[in-house]
Amino acid sequence: MADDRLIVALDVSTMDAVKEIVLSLGDSVSFYKVGMELFYAEGAKTIRFLQEQNKQIFLDLKLHDIPNTVAHGVSSLTRLGASLITLHGQGGPVMMKAAVEAARESGETLGVERPKLLAITALTSFDDESWTAIGGQLPISDQVIRLAKLAKDCGMDGVVCSALEAKMIREACGDDFFIVTPGIRPSFATTDDQKRVATPASALQDGASRLVIGRPITQAENPREAVRLIIEEMENVSK
Ligand code: C5P
Repeated sequence: MADDRLIVALDVSTMDAVKEIVLSLGDSVSFYKVGMELFYAEGAKTIRFLQEQNKQIFLDLKLHDIPNTVAHGVSSLTRLGASLITLHGQGGPVMMKAAVEAARESGETLGVERPKLLAITALTSFDDESWTAIGGQLPISDQVIRLAKLAKDCGMDGVVCSALEAKMIREACGDDFFIVTPGIRPSFATTDDQKRVATPASALQDGASRLVIGRPITQAENPREAVRLIIEEMENVSK
């Protein structure tokens, strides 16, 4: 049976590839992440297909614009039916508050549960050099905590962060904060291009609420067996 703490990343660009993954994983996976690559290529029909399959959707489009534009974007994505939506914390407090309000209002108008809004703090692709190049003043990890706390104060539901940051964010933002972590490698998998990885169990122990896993499942010889092994690793950590 599925464990909804596991979100499988659909990092593909065609509906055929989506169908192949989702139909082959069947009821072993209940939650999928759709990012820019797939959404820009196939748009809302991806979401409709996942809904027909009774799947929950993490729409990872990392919104970042003026508050009014982001608010309208969030309303549209709420109508579309996403459960989780990402936006850049660096869009600032006014933008985040406008997004929260838009999600609440559209959820109420539609009579549906509003999506959870997650902040991107500092992209993990930044290193010290590129961080300084854009004028970053605080050390990256301090900035991550600062933006996570700001996101919480603005009414955002949580953050996406590296599993290795989960513990400090959990400590800084408390038990109710929703923490989603990519960069997970189960004990049986290769690390691909991920450098700083955690296992499913260690990420959950450190406070992750949801795990995003892509290639260890989608490129496994037997994806369903990969899911089974991952859920086995997760089950040792209680919800
Ligand atoms: O295939 P893999 O498990 O590495 O995929 C992880 C997913 O999480 C991808 O969709 C990737 O873009 C995303 N991600 C990540 N690291 C981050 C942020 C997002 O791997 N820091």
